[in-house]
Amino acid sequence: MNSAAVLNVSKLCLGTMTFGEQNSYEDAREQLNFARESGINFFDVAEMYPVPQRAESQGKSEIYLGRWLKEAQVSRERVLVATKATGPSGQMTWIRGGPTSLDSKNIEQAIDGSLKRLGCDYIDLYQLHWPDRYVPMFGDIDYDPTASYAPVPIEEQLEALSRAKEAGKIIHVGVSNETAYGVMEFCRLADSKSPLPRIVSIQNAYNLLCRTFDSTLAECCHHHHVRLLAYSPLAMGLLSGKYLTPERGPKDARLNLYRGRYAEAESRYSFSKPNCIPAVTAYVDIARRHGISPVALAIGFVLRNPLIMSTVIGATKLWQLKEIVEASEVKLTAEVLSEINSVHERYPNPTP
Ligand SMILES: NC(=O)c1ccc[n+]([C@@H]2O[C@H](COP(=O)([O-])OP(=O)(O)OC[C@H]3O[C@@H](n4cnc5c(N)ncnc54)[C@H](OP(=O)(O)O)[C@@H]3O)[C@@H](O)[C@H]2O)c1
Repeated sequence: MNSAAVLNVSKLCLGTMTFGEQNSYEDAREQLNFARESGINFFDVAEMYPVPQRAESQGKSEIYLGRWLKEAQVSRERVLVATKATGPSGQMTWIRGGPTSLDSKNIEQAIDGSLKRLGCDYIDLYQLHWPDRYVPMFGDIDYDPTASYAPVPIEEQLEALSRAKEAGKIIHVGVSNETAYGVMEFCRLADSKSPLPRIVSIQNAYNLLCRTFDSTLAECCHHHHVRLLAYSPLAMGLLSGKYLTPERGPKDARLNLYRGRYAEAESRYSFSKPNCIPAVTAYVDIARRHGISPVALAIGFVLRNPLIMSTVIGATKLWQLKEIVEASEVKLTAEVLSEINSVHERYPNPTP
């Protein structure tokens, strides 16, 4: 049995990065209660959340999740909590005094900080939020060898995680925003240097507008039993179709609320990127013609991937969460999948 099999998670994982920014604690409680009633047992957070990240709000998402676990008297064995250590950043100086890295001291402090904010004795899945080395990520796809810098060795990162595992602070480990090379290195080191822990998951963006996982990463993950935690299945709301109006969506929707950060051409999910709006229009059209919602098309597309462990969803309103939970029951037909692939051929990865 591979180690991923022991993480018995629901197919939807509730992401929390709006908790403490777009969502108050009361909103969070409502969402978490509904998620639990709907059979969701898996919750994803990060020490740096909420997003957009700010010194004043950092840690609130973990605090809200921890507060709910306590208030709702959730039996700890019945839920799986995933959180993440912030990767290298010179900007988030409010985290551990900055600049953050994934050296052993930073990893140890990050785990202890998360446990404290969550009010938990252990974390079910502990993830490295992004690699401690140069990689093209968050929308970049081309590797630039000249951008490389001296990273913290992966072996040091695994040793720190191994110590935390031995101390009972974390159960499983995973990576995020990783590349095929990174997955292979983490697995190679774990296999050759016992007792270094083996990664069970990779949390990367995966949706109709970003299918980059499906090439080399999918093959590496398949052979190494690393499962995909697909984040942003709605491409931050774009795939709901709500930005297709002349005014480009509701004022309080993320891409408008934080326009300077998300909607500018250079940002990842910008609707001003070439092919973004044409692709979304084409996907919404497929959904409408087949009598399903655009959200069901987007969620169904992600969940049909056999390498999926769970998809990490997000909502700012309870009705959105209800729609996603309903959508997750819809199975896409071969005809719908074939139409999706035709659109993908025409507009491959408009927001990679
Ligand atoms: N590892 C990483 O680097 C990373 C990166 C990003 C996310 N994540 C994880 O993944 C989680 C989900 O990410 P995401 O929020 O980007 O996921 P998403 O599912 O692509 O987008 C969710 C957003 O779309 C909008 N929405 C949701 N349901 C809707 C509906 N039925 N109709 C219309 N709009 C709807 C809401 O935003 P508005 O109401 O504001 O429009 C909601 O917050 C995060 O909380 C986090 O845990 C991880």
